[in-house]
Amino acid sequence: MSEKNPGSVEDRQADHGAGRDYSQVTTKVGYGPNSVTLRDNRTGAEAELPILSSSTGGFDVIDLGRLSGDFNRLKTLDPGYPHTASTVSNITYIDGEQGILQYRGYPIEQLAEQSTFMETAYLLREGELPTKDQLAVFEQEMADHANVPDDVVDVLYAMRNKHPMAMISAAVTALADEHPQSQVPPHHMIAKMPTIVANAFRISRGDDFMEPDKNRPYTERFLHMCFADDRGRYESNPVLTEAMDKIFILHADHEQNASTSTARTVVSTGADPVVAIASGINALWGPKHGGANQAVLLMLDEIGTVDRIPEFVARAKDKDDSFRLMGFGHRIYKNFDPRARIIKAHADEVLSSLHVQDEKLAIARELEQIALQDEYFIARKLYPNVDFYSGIILRAMNFPPNMFTPIFEQGRIAGQVAHMEEVVGKPDPITRPYQLYQGPKKRDFVPMERRDDEPGMTIVPDDHPELV
Ligand code: ACO
Repeated sequence: MSEKNPGSVEDRQADHGAGRDYSQVTTKVGYGPNSVTLRDNRTGAEAELPILSSSTGGFDVIDLGRLSGDFNRLKTLDPGYPHTASTVSNITYIDGEQGILQYRGYPIEQLAEQSTFMETAYLLREGELPTKDQLAVFEQEMADHANVPDDVVDVLYAMRNKHPMAMISAAVTALADEHPQSQVPPHHMIAKMPTIVANAFRISRGDDFMEPDKNRPYTERFLHMCFADDRGRYESNPVLTEAMDKIFILHADHEQNASTSTARTVVSTGADPVVAIASGINALWGPKHGGANQAVLLMLDEIGTVDRIPEFVARAKDKDDSFRLMGFGHRIYKNFDPRARIIKAHADEVLSSLHVQDEKLAIARELEQIALQDEYFIARKLYPNVDFYSGIILRAMNFPPNMFTPIFEQGRIAGQVAHMEEVVGKPDPITRPYQLYQGPKKRDFVPMERRDDEPGMTIVPDDHPELV
């Protein structure tokens, strides 16, 4: 018996943009050679599924679409989704094998070299590079909306003893409202994020909130709020401003990473895109993701001196030790992280312009050399990622390690906004994965007085052995 998936491959490929509407796909059969056949060997049931192509020669995908009929009782299991495309998107392309990263088709190397963060943020949102006039209008809009309301300032003060990631997540949540009544369109978050991130830094170190200086360009405005004294005095340094701008560009988007996927999941429920961004911020915090830059610095501190590197490399390889070399490895990049190459070159430039002799950079370099020659890391394709070097630059700029991930978010806001705008109002279904349930089968409720006698019901907590 044959089960055909509705919709021809032409239908689906023609509607290649994000937000295709499956309900409009007509029932046709026969996908020709651009298909796979799924066969249930228990029953002989077959389903023909179309293969959709990437516009860039990236991975093709099998379109599970509306797998139905005999296959209604079968789902796919892919923990962590390494084999699953969750959506269709036109924003960012990554080829992990070849180390390619492109925003709207433009290589990250060219953007980092020739563009600014404002231009890149415009590109990510609009799909095209701005003209001079368009860029000027966008920059003015970003300056005009840089202020945050008083309750956001109150939230920052109330949370001044928390990690800055908690502060900025809460402050962004305080801007959210019920969609679509929300007063903050998603792209205004690009304007407000520097005010929130910089003031999380100020307030957590005991300084007062500082209003954004709208006469300064975007990245300088951010650094001014970070480092100006209470009277607003700040000596800007073009090398640092440019380095920070590049860090923002390099972190601006990374397709369906954990935090962007989280934001897309939240917005798929119909929630305000602003609160979806706050959820993305929380997902970014973890040390396996955006929190790795802070973890790298803590690790370099712990290593302390070059001669202790072999000890830590051995620990990273020991399966009984949970220690990992932070800043190494990536779910997608399996040869090199193109952002790491760019930022590594930049770290040298910034440190020499600041006349900083950082022992940590020497340890980082040596660690990289040793790990790159080690069979364990070679076999698993573990290379330094962007976070391995960004912390060195941020430290040279006088940011404490707990500000590294908020600064990552400051760049990532451009991508998060582009993804929110791609999804809002489009008919992507609510994100709701299935699960493979392997818990207890149905059983009847056991009254309290019978539970001591029931087999398997007496669970003794480790810290209460007296309950045996
Ligand atoms: N140090 C030591 N071993 C590692 C490391 C590491 N940093 N990363 C992966 N491995 C090993 C794993 O132990 C595993 O070994 P095994 O096959 O013998 O069991 C193998 O490499 C594959 O590891 P996974 O965790 O399955 O790989 P995955 O692609 O799921 O994880 C991740 C990628 C989370 C980035 C991982 O490499 C890691 O934890 N790295 C350190 C944290 C880090 O730098 N994160 C930043 C990523 S970039 C970003 O999000 C901006």
